Amino acid sequence: MIYKNILSELKEQILYVTINREHKLNALNKETLAELADVISYATGEDEVRGILLTGAGEKAFVAGADISEFSDYNGEQGEALARNGQEQVFNAMENCPKPIVAAINGFALGGGLELALACHIRIASDNAKLGLPEVSLGLIPGYGGTQRLTQVIGKGRALEMIATGEMISADQAEKVGLVNHVVPQAELIAKAESLLGKIKLRAPLAVAAAIKSVNSTNNFGVNGFEIEIKEFGKCFNTADFKEGTSAFLEKRKPVFSGK
Ligand code: COA
Repeated sequence: MIYKNILSELKEQILYVTINREHKLNALNKETLAELADVISYATGEDEVRGILLTGAGEKAFVAGADISEFSDYNGEQGEALARNGQEQVFNAMENCPKPIVAAINGFALGGGLELALACHIRIASDNAKLGLPEVSLGLIPGYGGTQRLTQVIGKGRALEMIATGEMISADQAEKVGLVNHVVPQAELIAKAESLLGKIKLRAPLAVAAAIKSVNSTNNFGVNGFEIEIKEFGKCFNTADFKEGTSAFLEKRKPVFSGK
């Protein structure tokens, strides 16, 4: 597959993947998601890859969310399919990837962008990063696993505060609540991620894969929260508030919600 929206380069057993839509703050359109699915599948099957470093192009954004312009006219069914396909093909594939994935969060990580970082195994942020799940401002909820993974990482109270207010938090706040492991100046971000992956790649690959699988299985409480999220996400698309929220973003104005 020839990639148009991501850069991918294998160097010294680390696969460097950069989301490369800087003019749209690296927002995830369908093509980008398909390319990410492809590169994860390649990394999963390629022995030469011992770890993945995922970042966004430029100095402003890791990923500013799913591409709002692509789904603003979706109905409930289409919304549900959007969440389900994305979760299965990209976000779950990343979480279940046997190669460790480190997110180097170099700016805004919002909505689908924070969900992408949450699907990575380890997160490092630059000191200018801002993280949030602003979907309720669009009349939506997170649909790429954010309600589940954020809660697993920072706990219910903090997760609901972030999701229900839609507000962003700083890199330092994110470190305090355990959402990112380290915060470093932007110029040192890639080196910090490389140093972590450099240590991991010296360890036994099958043991690292087994550790990922085992750690991932801690949060299986028997209720399929991801399924509930997909259904609720789909339902949001049938509301007037969703139409208003997305139109307001695209028209660059503040939304006026009616609760319908
Ligand atoms: N989907 C589609 N386009 C997006 C986008 C997204 N999630 N985030 C940013 N963009 C686009 C903008 O529309 C703009 O495009 P244009 O230059 O063609 O008008 C470009 O990226 C630059 O963004 P802009 O909003 O002008 O930058 P800013 O510095 O004023 O604001 C943000 C930065 C991140 C605060 C703002 O872009 C934002 O709120 N983005 C949406 C975040 C969001 O709701 N994400 C969740 C989606 S589910």
